[in-house]
Amino acid sequence: AGPRHLMSIADLTPAEFSSIVRNAAVRKQAVKAGQTPPSLSTSLSGQTIAMMFSKRSTRTRVSTEAAVTMLGGHPMFLGKDDIQLGVNESLYDTSVVISSMTSCMVARVGPHSDVANLAKHSSVPVINALSEDFHPLQTIADFLTIHEAFPSSKPSGPGLGLNGLKVAWVGDSNNVLFDLAIGCVKMGVDIAVASPAGYGIPDKMRQLIISSTEGVSSPGKLSETMVPEEAIKGADVLVTDTWISMGQESEQQKRLKAFAGYQITNDLAKRGGAKEDWKFMHCLPRHPEEVADEVFYSPRSLVFPEAENRLWAAVAALEGFVVNKGNLLK
Ligand code: CP
Ligand code: NVA
Repeated sequence: AGPRHLMSIADLTPAEFSSIVRNAAVRKQAVKAGQTPPSLSTSLSGQTIAMMFSKRSTRTRVSTEAAVTMLGGHPMFLGKDDIQLGVNESLYDTSVVISSMTSCMVARVGPHSDVANLAKHSSVPVINALSEDFHPLQTIADFLTIHEAFPSSKPSGPGLGLNGLKVAWVGDSNNVLFDLAIGCVKMGVDIAVASPAGYGIPDKMRQLIISSTEGVSSPGKLSETMVPEEAIKGADVLVTDTWISMGQESEQQKRLKAFAGYQITNDLAKRGGAKEDWKFMHCLPRHPEEVADEVFYSPRSLVFPEAENRLWAAVAALEGFVVNKGNLLK
């Protein structure tokens, strides 16, 4: 069998997903307490991790480079003008060549088939650093953030003890939502999505989300609406993302019009009937149109811890897929 890759949270069993999130939490606590296990900083020594990014990035780039450094490896950043990623050379050739010299490829691409093709031909693990369909590293960080904000009454067991929580996503149905929704279903967290007409979850993706229940005793439920207030009702966490993802810049005017009324504000949360102490999350980068400053910079907002958690998510993903070769329950 070839190496195990991380393309989406859909690739993970609930036990594996919670194990990665727990490992991220354990690493974070230890390093912050000055109790870094000595073996951590040598786990990738002498190894190079290729980072092939065909799109801009702040968090994913910095967290991955910092995580590789923490594990004693060398992060090699290859931007879109540095290498032939799907331009002037086939993905097959690129994948075979780069994987022959490195221990992992972390790739940010446009179409999901690009990262899937890299994985298909790679002799080393490939980690999806954002495609048009999925953003698994973000979802790991998001569940670490939720885990920290809602400490479980049942800290052991196969999940994260988050059953019964409700997440409301108000905005575009995009890559970040798809993996988040899969994570929610697997962790027993209900997720309600409000998107304007024409911007809902595509049928194929809905099928994948609702079929992510394998091995889950009480899966989270997905519900969809075009009314933000409906999604928000009883929610513990309100989440959104940009209305204009990378690659959709030419649709800006059309999208700003379609999403009018979807901005997350205190008033919307109140009208919708979110839980009293609701929290706010956003993967960033953020624009004011999707969330007002009064929410984004408020004490409810988890956005900066969420961003920092990308580092611990990257550490846990690299340990799971590269150091432990996909044996995630180790
Ligand atoms: N959230 C996230 O992936 O941010 P970047 O695009 O800056 O990496
Ligand atoms: N949905 C956004 C996420 C960026 C991290 C995009 O694809 O551009």
